[in-house]
Amino acid sequence: MDATALESEAQTAIAAARDAGCLEELRVRYLGRKSPLKLALREVRDRETGMALNAARAAIEDAFSKREAALAASAPEHLEPFDVTLPGERVERGRLHLITQIRREIEDVFLGLGYAVFDGPEVDTVFNNFTALNTPEAHPSRDPQDTFYVDGETVLRPHTSPGQIRTMLAQEPPVYVVSLGRVYRRDTPTPRHTPTFHQVECLAVDKGISLADLRGTVEHFFRALFGQEREIRMRTSYFPFTEPSVEFDVTCFLCGGEGCNVCKRSGWIEMGGAGVVDPAVFEAVGYDPEEWSGFAFGLGIERIAMLRHGFPDLRLLWENDLRFARQF
Ligand code: PHE
Repeated sequence: MDATALESEAQTAIAAARDAGCLEELRVRYLGRKSPLKLALREVRDRETGMALNAARAAIEDAFSKREAALAASAPEHLEPFDVTLPGERVERGRLHLITQIRREIEDVFLGLGYAVFDGPEVDTVFNNFTALNTPEAHPSRDPQDTFYVDGETVLRPHTSPGQIRTMLAQEPPVYVVSLGRVYRRDTPTPRHTPTFHQVECLAVDKGISLADLRGTVEHFFRALFGQEREIRMRTSYFPFTEPSVEFDVTCFLCGGEGCNVCKRSGWIEMGGAGVVDPAVFEAVGYDPEEWSGFAFGLGIERIAMLRHGFPDLRLLWENDLRFARQF
């Protein structure tokens, strides 16, 4: 038999094999027990023919393993035809949640006024949330019906005011700081309340700070957020940690003060609480109330979002419905 002719025939066939199945058929044909090559090898009587046939067998085996490796390397999907004119897969861009957008906007307003931004923990002590803030033992806000207790000394903060205490314990006056973040209260979810929400807290401590500074700062803040035409007003109120205490309103940005549905026909919208820092708070953090004075205010960020964009139910902010979230 012509070993060279057989080898080159096998080489050509192996190189043309399209898949593992074809290759297996060829292996039986060229190297199987009943293949001409194997039969010829069994008949060999002289050294020369034996060497020629063995060389052909080795070459064919080599060709098989090379082709096998080449077929395995090209995975079937790479061989499938595809339409290069089809549109590609679009990578969708995410965006910041409305609350995060407003939170950053508020931070920018205060950074522009020279304030520092403070980020406090959401799980904090009863001391930082109530005791140091001059809140008496019997005050309703301390009740477990209103505040989530982790244990006797620890709560999920019900407001951002512990940011005041943490800042003042950590540094000497003067202080200009805003603290923003999540707060928790035992509320049933309704269109206007959710048990988790966000607040912004502002604290200024310096020599000779008065209610007038508070007024000017709140006014600047609301004009930056709702437009330069906004006016503010303060009404007397009560908080344990401020004296005197006020609540502040802003003129309705929808009707400009004439009266509409958003402002319940009053022309004013309630925004938050504020006041002059109570001397008892300064004593709790070791500041001398004879030397220093300050103001503080706090308000909800969801409320700002809801009023600014005119949506009717703040639970929408928590539902992760993209049809809502994508509008901002
Ligand atoms: N902490 C008060 C609240 O959550 C708001 C407030 C902050 C009032 C600072 C006065 C001064 O209702």
